[in-house]
Amino acid sequence: MESLGVDRYRNIVVLTGAGISAASGLPTYRGPGGLWETVGEENVPTARSLIENPQGTWALVRELRERSRSAAPNPAHTALARLEERTLARGASFTLVTQNVDGLHRRAGSSNVIEFHGSLFRARCSRDACESEPIPDDAEEPTSAQCSTCGSALRPDVVLFDELIPARPEWDVKRALRACDLFIAVGTSGTVSPASSFVRSAAYAGARTILVNLEPMQPRHPDFHEEYLGRAETLLPLILD
Ligand code: APR
Repeated sequence: MESLGVDRYRNIVVLTGAGISAASGLPTYRGPGGLWETVGEENVPTARSLIENPQGTWALVRELRERSRSAAPNPAHTALARLEERTLARGASFTLVTQNVDGLHRRAGSSNVIEFHGSLFRARCSRDACESEPIPDDAEEPTSAQCSTCGSALRPDVVLFDELIPARPEWDVKRALRACDLFIAVGTSGTVSPASSFVRSAAYAGARTILVNLEPMQPRHPDFHEEYLGRAETLLPLILD
């Protein structure tokens, strides 16, 4: 398997999904044994379920937080952390956008990480209009603290179904994609918007676009120029060196 020759690109954007954490023992969301199959469609956390059943949402967050805490970054995470270091050292730009909320990229040493769907290890004010920043939160029990700015209840800092992506990460990604010359998507089914449309923006910007995934996207996305099918933890160390 030959290297992608990544060191010739000036603006690299990498998008990751649950498949990159599979080798760390964390379930993906879809497919056999996926998280949504396990918890049941009716228990998939949404903005509505957070209001109607905050305990249920916090219980799922607590369980996923515990699993993520006991998982370890795998060679795919480490390969991306090394790539970021090498890319920045030669004065080029590197943006890692993850749909994952497990915190494994940061634990692997990646620093410029856009946690597009938030993080299990933060809580934020439940009042969207509040300007307060999310706070670190990895307690066993859901935080009972209230927002220090407005006194509203805190909630998990994760983007739930039928919620908008916060403006700042969305803007950061759009800015990175505009100048992108290499776009790699790793371990994602490409089924959830708006992350699923990043490859179109990258291709429009003239980037080389590559999918690294266990299986082809269904349906295949026309804007991926190349596909490397297999396990990210095996492929990334080979093609990113
Ligand atoms: N290496 C590479 N790819 C893998 C591996 C692996 N070891 N194991 C699984 N995969 C692939 C699967 O083939 C699948 O295409 O990872 C993909 C995981 O897809 P999903 O479970 O749909 O996860 P993801 O794409 O991250 O979901 C996006 O949906 O439910 C929401 O917010 C949630 O962030 C999540 C979003």
